[in-house]
Amino acid sequence: MLLFSIFGYPVTHSISPRLHNSVLQALKLDGCYVRKAITEPEKLLSTFHAMKLTGANVTVPHKEAAYEQCDEVRGIAKEIGAVNTLVREGERVIGYNTDAEGFYEAIKSFGYIRNALILGAGGTAKAIAIILKSHDIETTILNRSASRLSFFASRGFTCQTWDTFESKPYDLIINTTSAGLKDEEYPCDKELLKTIFKESKYAFDVIYNKPTPFLELARSCNIRCKDGKEMLLYQGVLAFNLFFSKHYDLKTIETLMRPAFEL
Ligand SMILES: NC(=O)c1ccc[n+]([C@@H]2O[C@H](COP(=O)([O-])OP(=O)(O)OC[C@H]3O[C@@H](n4cnc5c(N)ncnc54)[C@H](OP(=O)(O)O)[C@@H]3O)[C@@H](O)[C@H]2O)c1
Repeated sequence: MLLFSIFGYPVTHSISPRLHNSVLQALKLDGCYVRKAITEPEKLLSTFHAMKLTGANVTVPHKEAAYEQCDEVRGIAKEIGAVNTLVREGERVIGYNTDAEGFYEAIKSFGYIRNALILGAGGTAKAIAIILKSHDIETTILNRSASRLSFFASRGFTCQTWDTFESKPYDLIINTTSAGLKDEEYPCDKELLKTIFKESKYAFDVIYNKPTPFLELARSCNIRCKDGKEMLLYQGVLAFNLFFSKHYDLKTIETLMRPAFEL
């Protein structure tokens, strides 16, 4: 039997097992996807081998550690410096990042985007900024503090803190902070956010399990909105595709994985 896992801490909330097991079952594959809490990031790869995994996904807070430990990193993950998908190739473990492509798939329905503003400067912001740049979308990063902005500044992004930011029209505003996840906070000053939304077309929040204050405010400004559900779905679809060496087409995997969200 093929075994897959999600690695992270905590992982009890993760719906990745549900997403992947539903596709494994539908395709009648002899495989199972489990959860494994990892508290010592340096043990990611040794755990992968000890569990004899075929593939794994990596979630918060271990994506950078996974990047460091892979035998090889492929694709856009090399630029992002973070890996969320591990795939066995013989004795080697290859690392990929499907968060970035997953995000881009999720925003395709918005249509043409000229420029974007990312709120937050963590790991998710890196993945999103790099994929937007690869599609020639001019991107600005706004974070409450300066320390994490150096990654973005060194790659040519316009970077601002709350103290230096002056609003201008952006097509798309993306919340990548955890503000609103376990509280009712906004990712920046509410009045500033209102000003930004008044000049914008679309809002996207990477949080997916609740209507955040960020999205509620965007809706009240009559902006087209999306939460992080589709991003999560597509990163899973792309990861499944990599687990099986791109044997199944993406549309088939998406169709089989999507109903697992409704359970
Ligand atoms: N939908 C999906 O598929 C998907 C995929 C990946 C991640 N996510 C979600 O993305 C979120 C961020 O994850 P991450 O790994 O990027 O986190 P992270 O690396 O810890 O970065 C968090 C960022 O948010 C900022 N921040 C945190 N709390 C804030 C607040 N109350 N107000 C303003 N800024 C705040 C931090 O600012 P400082 O630098 O000033 O500390 C930092 O820039 C999580 O909620 C995660 O669940 C969703």
